[in-house]
Amino acid sequence: MDKAQQDALKKAAGIEAAKIITSGMTAGLGTGSTVRFLVDELGRRVKDEGLNFTGVTTSRRTQEQAEGYGITIIDIDQADHIDVTIDGADEVDKNFNGIKGGGAALLWEKIVATNSDKIVWIVDESKVVDTIGRFPLPVEVIPFGAGHVIKRFEAKNYKPVLRLDAQGKPVRTDENNYVVDLHLERIDHPYDLAQDLINTVGVVEHGLFLNMVDTVIVGDPNGPRIMHNANK
Ligand code: A5P
Repeated sequence: MDKAQQDALKKAAGIEAAKIITSGMTAGLGTGSTVRFLVDELGRRVKDEGLNFTGVTTSRRTQEQAEGYGITIIDIDQADHIDVTIDGADEVDKNFNGIKGGGAALLWEKIVATNSDKIVWIVDESKVVDTIGRFPLPVEVIPFGAGHVIKRFEAKNYKPVLRLDAQGKPVRTDENNYVVDLHLERIDHPYDLAQDLINTVGVVEHGLFLNMVDTVIVGDPNGPRIMHNANK
C-alpha cells in the first residue's frame, strides 16, 4: 500500500468516527495523522452543521488544530467526564491489545483514555496485526538518568533506541520527557512486559494499551469496518 492509499483509508476511518460525536458531548481527541482527518471532519461539521461539543486533547498539536476550527478545548481537569475518546494507533491485534506513541503523545493519550467512558481507535487496515511488536514500542522516560534506563533495557535485550529529531536532538514530549523505542519485533507476553516497564524507575509510561479500546474503526478498501471488543 502506498502512502496515498494509506491516507485515503485513514481519512475514511476519521470521517466515519466523526459521526460518533454529537452536540453536548465532551470528546477526547487523540493525536496523529489519522486524527488530523477526524478533526478536519469535525471542523467541517462545526461550520456546516452547527455541531457544538467540547474537546479534551491529547497533545498541543491537536489542540491547535481543533481551536483553529473554533472547537472549544478544555483542560482535562476541567472535564467532569469524557464521553468518548477517538484516537489513532500504531498496531492493534485481535485481542484489542495495541501499541501507541508513534507520535510521542502516549502519556497524555493514556491519561485521556483512562478517563473516558468509551475509547474508539481509527486505523488503516495495515495496522491490524496478528502479534504486536513489529512497530517499535515507545516508552516515555524522564531525561534525568535516561542513559541508565537505556542500559537496563539493553541488558534485557529490549533493543532500545533513543528517539531523535531531524537535528539529531532527543525528541521531547509535551511533558518534556524523552521517548525510547524498543525494537522487539514481536511481543508475546504484553502484560508481563507492561509490568516490567512500568516498574522501571525513570519510566513515566509505555505505549502498550492492553484491552483498553472498545471499538476499532478500520479503514478498508471496501469501506470502513468496525471491530467491537466483546471483552470490555
Ligand atoms: C501518537 O503518539 C500515536 O499514539 C498515534 O495515535 C499513533 O502513532 C497513530 O498515528 P498515525 O495516525 O499518524 O498513524
